[in-house]
Amino acid sequence: MSLVGFGYLTPTASLILAPHGGFAQQGWPCGARQESASAFCSPTALTGILPCFGMSENRSTLKERVRAFWQENPCGTKFADAPPGSRRFYELVEEHRYKKEWHIPEAAQFARAKDLAVLEVGCGLGTDGAQFAKAGAKYTGIDLTDAAVELAKRRFELFDLPGTFRVADAERLDFPDSSFDLVYSHGVLHHTPDTAAAIHEIHRVLRPGGKALVMLYHRDSYNYRVNISMLRRTGVQLLRWNTGVKLVHLLTGEPEDSLRDHARQLETQSEYLNSEEFLSRNTDGAGNPLARVYSRREARELFKDFAHVELRTYFLNKRWLPVLGPLLPRWLESQLASRWGWHLWTYATKGATKGAE
Ligand SMILES: C[S@@+](CC[C@H](N)C(=O)[O-])C[C@H]1O[C@@H](n2cnc3c(N)ncnc32)[C@H](O)[C@@H]1O
Repeated sequence: MSLVGFGYLTPTASLILAPHGGFAQQGWPCGARQESASAFCSPTALTGILPCFGMSENRSTLKERVRAFWQENPCGTKFADAPPGSRRFYELVEEHRYKKEWHIPEAAQFARAKDLAVLEVGCGLGTDGAQFAKAGAKYTGIDLTDAAVELAKRRFELFDLPGTFRVADAERLDFPDSSFDLVYSHGVLHHTPDTAAAIHEIHRVLRPGGKALVMLYHRDSYNYRVNISMLRRTGVQLLRWNTGVKLVHLLTGEPEDSLRDHARQLETQSEYLNSEEFLSRNTDGAGNPLARVYSRREARELFKDFAHVELRTYFLNKRWLPVLGPLLPRWLESQLASRWGWHLWTYATKGATKGAE
């Protein structure tokens, strides 16, 4: 899919998106290809909450790599075979999203946001944001990248939806205290170097009694415990040979170019197989510099400043359940996902008064 000269986006966004043509990779929830290395490790029992970074990298350079990755690979663009920024593009992105992740409308409860001041942290293409706006919320979307903000803004303009957008960092929100009734963040905060700082900011900008809805990747999920930690870790060794790449492609349906990206990483990045690095590279594309997973206990720890916290898991990610996956009826899939789902949703309420926390 060539993005050059498609004529829908502003010149800035065209420049941002056009040269790389990296959106066409399939088989990953988001992102695509890009070469880069990272060096960080996770100490102690709080693995995943407080990563310690290697000598070679501090949080700000890691943040820069996170920004560069998502700037080049705006989340979800590869699922639409239409010019980015066109009406058809957004329709296809939305269709794909709610077909594959059909739990989102139920989990996000868009309709309940009527008349609420909603902030979305990491708005991506604005697909969920549009549902909040349609439901009558006063919507604000922020994202670390110009690419996402341009595309989300364009979506709202095309579909005549009210909303405001700005480029901002979740870890340092430029809003006054108590500005929002609801803060929503889907699949974002496990990609930022200081997740705890971002959650602290969410708490700060919520009014007393306000709610946070945050989805993070789930450590105790089928996808992490079985697929990533066992199947993919074993299977990746086959990628050292051309026939191995073809075999894995045949067995899993994962595109060969994506597998070759992994093969390159395996060959050139000495840390590719360390467990944090392997996780990052095996969630949103081989070039993704950072992804983490959280257990229920770790999520509770992250949201400890909130007065009330409820956790739910969704999304089995059936792509990784060979043969059986497509045969699972929805009710069974929901049951399994409620225990071993890949998406851990936190519903947190800020105390109504200081004393309530
Ligand atoms: C996997 S995408 C998710 C986008 C959208 N929420 C969705 O569900 O489709 C991750 C997004 O988080 C954004 N992001 C990562 N770190 C961020 C940060 N520190 N502040 C704001 N946005 C961030 C990225 O730019 C990217 O658009």
